[in-house]
Amino acid sequence: MQPEPHIPEGLPVPDATSLEHSDRVAAFIRARIDAAGDLISMAEFMQHALYAPGLGYYTAGSVKFGESGDFVTAPEISPVFGRVLAQQSAATISTLNGGIIEFGAGSGALAVTMLKKLAELDALPASYRILEVSPELCERQQRKIMTEIPEFASVVSWIDALPVKFRGVVIANEVLDALPVERFVRTADEVLQLCVGYRDGQFVYRTRIAGERLLQQVLEIEARIGHRLADGYASEVSLGLQGWLAELLSAIDTGIVFLFDYGVTRQEYYALERDQGWLRCHFRHHAHNEPLIYAGIQDITAWVDFSAVAEAAFEQGAEIAGFVTQALFLMNGGLENELAAFDSLTDVEQLELSRQIKLLTLPSEMGENFKCMGLCKGAVAVPDAFGFGDRAHNL
Ligand SMILES: C[S@@+](CC[C@H](N)C(=O)[O-])C[C@H]1O[C@@H](n2cnc3c(N)ncnc32)[C@H](O)[C@@H]1O
Repeated sequence: MQPEPHIPEGLPVPDATSLEHSDRVAAFIRARIDAAGDLISMAEFMQHALYAPGLGYYTAGSVKFGESGDFVTAPEISPVFGRVLAQQSAATISTLNGGIIEFGAGSGALAVTMLKKLAELDALPASYRILEVSPELCERQQRKIMTEIPEFASVVSWIDALPVKFRGVVIANEVLDALPVERFVRTADEVLQLCVGYRDGQFVYRTRIAGERLLQQVLEIEARIGHRLADGYASEVSLGLQGWLAELLSAIDTGIVFLFDYGVTRQEYYALERDQGWLRCHFRHHAHNEPLIYAGIQDITAWVDFSAVAEAAFEQGAEIAGFVTQALFLMNGGLENELAAFDSLTDVEQLELSRQIKLLTLPSEMGENFKCMGLCKGAVAVPDAFGFGDRAHNL
């Protein structure tokens, strides 16, 4: 028996224009369901809802980031995030005379902050390349860069594919959580794939026996956590992660990758009590667990299994530079330098900066759930940000 999709209590009602758009996205997905027979996998549903050309959440024009959008990310909360990341990237860039690649640059806020800070540090990269799957966001990023840092615009370019033998720094903030995931349900004697069908004007959950790849992944998870998942246990697995990392790491000759996301180790990801998984949706700053509503007008994400990231990285010959909470990344990485001029700020500015730092570092906000995993390839020095509180041994 599958749960029925429902609109969670307290979720804001979308305006008429958003609902019309959502109907168009739903029609697009429904056509895919019809074409596939009568159901598609959750990963396929997520792919269409987020990235259907000109329609998906990331590929159409919704606001997404910031107060008038659906969620805020660290670079949107405060320039302090990007300034510390720039401090942590400067040595690698200067030593290698290297560049930066940013995946999924969102509004372009991080690129703007980093380039300003790197210029201050006299460590401007040879190139700042953005690999972004959303044409709408590419345009937004271009506008922001031309408006806010026209003096560095010539350094920035947008790429569709990774360069070969890249040397430098790669950044992905909240990109791994935006990769489509498969959902599964363990039963006493098999693994089911949770899929999406369509009935009476709405998307509904369906199941089918898991294919070989998903089955093997679940069996591998069980082998690694040391026990069989309980009957009825539901969770997610990112089948695209390994390929994404393999492509990225094989493009790097020498450098460091900073992956920021909300995530945990595998033992925590598949813990007994976490039997409904880690899929989260964001609509107008309300977080909930129902991906089958508001198609194309809400964000759908899944927390990251960082043990899986580490293993995929090892397979590609990378080393783990460190795995720390976002709070420790910032504190180890030079947050105090950002506070040096605190006394010269007005009272209002001091309050605002304190508010931003609290959001970035408090355990009840983004400090603990958000992690940074650093991956190194070739001879690069491990950044200070991983110097204290490294949890890589828990992975
Ligand atoms: C949650 S947003 C984060 C945006 C930005 N990094 C920030 O922190 O504000 C996810 C971003 O990743 C992009 N994205 C998703 N999948 C991607 C992929 N495979 N390659 C590059 N960008 C991707 C989305 O279009 C979007 O810009």
